[in-house]
Amino acid sequence: MTKYDVATLLKGTDLLQTINVNGWVRTFRSNRFIALNDGSTLNNIQCVLDFDNLDESTLKRITTGAAINVKGTLIESLGKGQKFEIQVSELTILGDCNPEVYPIQPKKHSLEFLRENAHLRIRTNTFSAIMRVRSALSFAVHQYFTQNGFYYFNAPIITGSDAEGAGEMFKVTNLDSKNPPLTEDGKIDYTKDFFGKETNLTVSGQLEAETYAMGLGKVYTFGPTFRAENSNTTRHLAEFWMIEPEVAFNDLEDNMDLAQDFIQYTIKYVLENCKDDLAFLEQRLADEEKNKPANERSEMSLLDKLRFVVDNNFKRVSYTEAIDILRNSKPNKKKKFKFPINEWGADLQSEHERFLVEKHFKCPVILFDYPANIKAFYMRQNDDGKTVRAMDVLFPGIGEIVGGSQREERLDVLLEKIKVLGIDEKELWWYLDLRKFGSCVHSGFGLGFERLVQFTTGMGNIRDVIPYPRFPQNAEF
Ligand code: 4AD
Ligand code: MG
Repeated sequence: MTKYDVATLLKGTDLLQTINVNGWVRTFRSNRFIALNDGSTLNNIQCVLDFDNLDESTLKRITTGAAINVKGTLIESLGKGQKFEIQVSELTILGDCNPEVYPIQPKKHSLEFLRENAHLRIRTNTFSAIMRVRSALSFAVHQYFTQNGFYYFNAPIITGSDAEGAGEMFKVTNLDSKNPPLTEDGKIDYTKDFFGKETNLTVSGQLEAETYAMGLGKVYTFGPTFRAENSNTTRHLAEFWMIEPEVAFNDLEDNMDLAQDFIQYTIKYVLENCKDDLAFLEQRLADEEKNKPANERSEMSLLDKLRFVVDNNFKRVSYTEAIDILRNSKPNKKKKFKFPINEWGADLQSEHERFLVEKHFKCPVILFDYPANIKAFYMRQNDDGKTVRAMDVLFPGIGEIVGGSQREERLDVLLEKIKVLGIDEKELWWYLDLRKFGSCVHSGFGLGFERLVQFTTGMGNIRDVIPYPRFPQNAEF
């Protein structure tokens, strides 16, 4: 007897066939109707028990969460709510689930409660929908780049370099923490450590990706990245997945075109391939919005927001223009910003980014040409001497979703820059080599995968779009 999954059965193609399906009981009512789910789709299949030979003790074991096997016939349903159902001829309990202690009940649970039960939350509609969308998005990422001539590059996870210069990294060591070897001046002697030097978990695969772009032309990374910032926000994780394309001979304009085209492709893919899950998430968001004060409610539904991003160009605005807009904005004049904008050169906070995107332009925005001194050392200097060819893509409800730049390809300019910043030339010898041997204009960016999943699913907290979130004071599971 062929084994089926629920998604296939619900298509109804094998009508009147004898079928065999495994899954978990979502609900059981009237001692007769089981809603069965196996994760293949959001939807359950109804299994109808139409026989008297199930003993009382087996019936009692059909509880929410129990794993069962069902054999029977797929038939057209006469009842409301489903087109097809299974007329059950045989039912086996595979794994009991005691309703007295099982945390996931057929009712609404808070997201906080589910976060504490992250090992079980995937059994809810909300989390299975999110994680199917996440999986589809990651497939779309690979499909987009493969179709556009990019090669997938795996950046090292343990690294001796600090790409962003932010200094907030997780140390990787196997030295005895109670009794580490010391140098003559009393510091920890990392030459005795596993790698013979200080190493950390990577904050970005960019610098290594640049080396591969100089040989393969177009590459992208898609892997975990780590930041030890103590930011307890709804948009930060200590471990997140980043996608970093890097392209030889692309300038900043090309980079902006790529970022827009790439994001639109992945969202379009989900719109076409995750219809049931998105419809469910749209309703979830609409229910959540109802509890908000009227002035904070979004005017657009989830699907409207996604279609809007797919169908419209992102607005390109220079940092200098953005500062003018912000300086003259109502919230700035009325001192509503926590960080008032007074002068050119200020670093933009998320309140400013969100004002530009949600209130002023009302569409995704690409800010470019930022002041050099608030951006990383590797960004290409403009002729004005004070700005660099940086770009950030800002999204409604999310803020920064992409950060990228054209890279400084001129050896003398780059050397001068790292000297001023006090970076050790010796640490970056291989990165500097790229500027000595066939250097060329090149650009890339990093997209925070969870922020894309957040936007696409309409989830407010980044901790709900990754299976096991890592954040300060939490590494459970
Ligand atoms: O802007 P960031 O720091 O840029 C880089 O790391 C560059 N090396 C990328 C490149 O040019 N190749 O990070 C890129 C993106 C951000 O825009 C954001 O979406 C995401 O990564 N991100 C985070 N996501 C979740 N939690 C965090 N703590 C994040 N930090 C950055
Ligand atoms: Mg950034």
